[in-house]
Order: sequence, then structure tokens, then C-alpha cells
Amino acid sequence: MEQQNTLINHEDFFNDLRKKEFSRLDETNQVYLDYTGGNLYPKSLLEKHFNYLQKNVLGNPHSTNPTSLLSTQFVQEAREKVISFFNAKDYYCIFTSNASGALHIVGECYPFKKNSLFLLTADNHNSVNGIREYCKAKGGEFKYCQINYEDLTLNDQQIENYLNSADGFDNKLFAYPAQSNVSGIKHNLNWIEKAKQKGWDVLLDAAAFVPTTPLDLSKITPDFISISFYKIFGYPTGIGCLLVHKDKFDKLQKPWFAGGTVKFVSINYPGYFLATDHERFENGTVNYLDIPAITNGLNFIEEIGFDRITNRIKFLMAHLIDDLHKIKHSNQHNVVRIFGSEDLTRKGGTLIFNLLDDDGKLFSIEDVEQMANENKISLRTGCFCNPGIDEINNCVSTDELMKYFTTKHNGSYHDMLYYLGRMRGAIRISVGIATTMNDLNKFIDFIKTFVDKKSNLAV
Ligand SMILES: Cc1ncc(COP(=O)(O)O)c(C=O)c1O
Repeated sequence: MEQQNTLINHEDFFNDLRKKEFSRLDETNQVYLDYTGGNLYPKSLLEKHFNYLQKNVLGNPHSTNPTSLLSTQFVQEAREKVISFFNAKDYYCIFTSNASGALHIVGECYPFKKNSLFLLTADNHNSVNGIREYCKAKGGEFKYCQINYEDLTLNDQQIENYLNSADGFDNKLFAYPAQSNVSGIKHNLNWIEKAKQKGWDVLLDAAAFVPTTPLDLSKITPDFISISFYKIFGYPTGIGCLLVHKDKFDKLQKPWFAGGTVKFVSINYPGYFLATDHERFENGTVNYLDIPAITNGLNFIEEIGFDRITNRIKFLMAHLIDDLHKIKHSNQHNVVRIFGSEDLTRKGGTLIFNLLDDDGKLFSIEDVEQMANENKISLRTGCFCNPGIDEINNCVSTDELMKYFTTKHNGSYHDMLYYLGRMRGAIRISVGIATTMNDLNKFIDFIKTFVDKKSNLAV
């Protein structure tokens, strides 16, 4: 009963928030269900930020003139805000262009060498998968830990085995997402300490996790963490950060220098000294006009509070999953096939599924997206830059992939579909703080239009 009261209070709170901050959704009659792609910015954040830009004279940082110092001060405030938000006093906050920019620094600078091992989970964004190329180029090895087909959780036994059997390796990096950008599953964060105790460095991709779940870096201490701010509060795009534990800062070896990253460079003698803090990795001029909006964006999230946000997301997901299961064809076959665990204690606000006709034949995801577009519903289809999950859901074998890659010089997702002769991909929806029950009801009504309809999919 108490739980129910909390949910009712949240309903009023979030309906008010929608009116105050996100009324443009209703004014334009949009159903936005792509919060994992990008969050929506609250109106007040824009107002505060544009007011700040209008009233201040802001110069390029890295100087002592008054306008430059003002920019430096606001950028520094934003950096301190990020550190306090994640309780990360033992970390450097390096501003990047997005989470991929943060991951790029790790890929480029982690000291991979001949006997290095890069261990990563099959559930990973391509911006983490891509780090394997740096490892390979330096002669290191990489290995994937599989995920469980039934519920898309990590295969604990395999992780344990791989972490334990790397004694001969030097510079071992383990990378996984705190939350899957595809299934929404929140992976077990206990692997961080376990891996560290066994001599591994740990990269936690927190891009899909932090928008709706608190991350306290005094309690769990990965070595490197990647984040994109637009995924938390929508504005600005083009800013993320890499949090680097101070103990591992010098382990990252920057292979070049750029403006803003050095204390001193000479050209008549090829010498240089890199900056000894976050500046080492912030190439050139940081986005000093937008970075100060991070302070207000994080304040906005703190004012709502993670207790409310996490509860709200659970509440919305419980309704969504329940309602989707209830949609049946006349012959009682399900219309919706959800992938992955539905346990909301381990799941954020992201759901992937396919739609089936009454013979169990898939509807084309392109057709579904097209129909959603016509109904002003923003969802996403494809493999969401996470091929591991897609290969598992659609049972694509290593042999099939090897044949495809070894017989072609070029290819694409669609080319692969024709090659395999069967469907790949899924439909993804994700909810956020601006989502209302009205949005979900419109979406459910849309899915009901597939009841007793026939799929015309050729493959
Ligand atoms: C888990 C995860 N990692 C990394 C990224 C890459 O983020 P960005 O495109 O902002 O660099 C995303 C984006 O969706 C993500 O969800």
C-alpha cells in the first residue's frame, strides 16, 4: 500500500514536470520513446543557460584576461559539479565530445602491448568494441565473454573463468556496460572489484546507466568511466566525460600532444611536458560556452532526485511490459516477443522486442518504424550499435559471420540481411522522466493495430 502511495505521488509530480518542462511534446503531439538514444532537455535548463550566455562576456580559456578567466571559472565549476554528482573525488574529470570520445581516449592511451589482454562482454556498444582494434594493432589479444541467450544477462561463470585465467598477461583491461543500451539490463557491478583484485583494470561504460540510476564512485571504483551528458538531461549535445581514477591516470599513455594538453613544448629540440591533470587529455579548446550548462543540468536531476527517477522508470516499465503481454491475436498467440530479462530490479527503462503475426511470422522492423513515424511515435529499430546482442537474439553463428566477412570487401547491415536470408534487428523503446502514462497508452494502442494483421516479410 505504501509503495502504491509513492507511485501515485510520483504520477502527479511527473505530470506537473511534463507540463512545466516538456510541454512541447504535447504541443506537437509527439510520443517520444527514445530516451536511451538521447534525453529531452527541460525548458528551464535552456532558459538558465541562454540567460547565462546573454549576460556574460566569455573568452577562450587558457589565458589570464578577465573574459578568459570567467570562462575558466565556469568550466571549473562544471567539472567540480560532475565530481560531486558522482561522488568522485578520487577521479579526474576529463571533458570529451561524448561517451565515444571518452572511450577513444582509453583505446588510444591504454598501454596495450604484445602480452596484453582486452576482455569485454558481448553486450557492449560499438564504441567499446572498437577498442579491440587498438589492442590488436599493438599485438595484444582480445576475448569476448558471452551473455545468456535466455535473459541477456552476463555469463558469470565465463567471466569468472576468463578473469582467473590471465596470469601470463600484462596490462589487462576488462570492459562492460553498467547498463545495456539495448536490453536495458543493469549488469552486476560487483565484477569491478573482483576484476581489480585479480590484477585487471576496469573500464565501465556508464552512458546508458547514469541517466536513471545513481553512480557513487566512492563505493564502486572502476578505473575508467565513460559518460555522455545529453543522455542525462538532453542539452547540450557534444559533451561527455571520461572519469579516470587518480591511481590510473599515469597508466594512460598519450601518444601525442595538442594545444592545451602540455605544460611546455619546444621545436628546436623535440621535447615536451604534458599537463599533469585532466588537461592532458582535453585537446585544444574545450566547449567553454556549453560546458557550464552541465552544472544546471545536474542540479535539475538532483532536484528531482534519483529515488523518484528510479521508481518512476520502474513504474512505467511495469505497466508497459504488462500491457504488451496482454496484446494477443484472436488465436491467442502473442503479438509481442520481448527479449531479455523482465526483472525490474535489474532493468532500466529500455525494452527490445519484435512483433509477430498470428502464425508467429515476424513483422518487418522497417515497416513497424515507418508506421510508428506516421503516428508521430519516435522509436528505434536495428541493432543499436550493439551487434553482440543482435547476434545472440537472432542466433547468427560465428561460421555465418566468418563466411560473410571473408568473402566480401565491403558490406552493410542490409547487405548482411540478404546474405543471411533472414531477419536481424529488433525494435527498441525507452522511457524517461518526461514520459507519461498517456504516451504509453498511445504506444500500446499503436501495437494493438498489429492484432490479426498478416506479416508480408519476404525473408
Ligand atoms: C552504453 C552506451 N555506450 C556508449 C554510447 C555512445 O555514446 P555517444 O554516442 O554519446 O558517444 C552509447 C550511446 O547510445 C551507449 O548507450
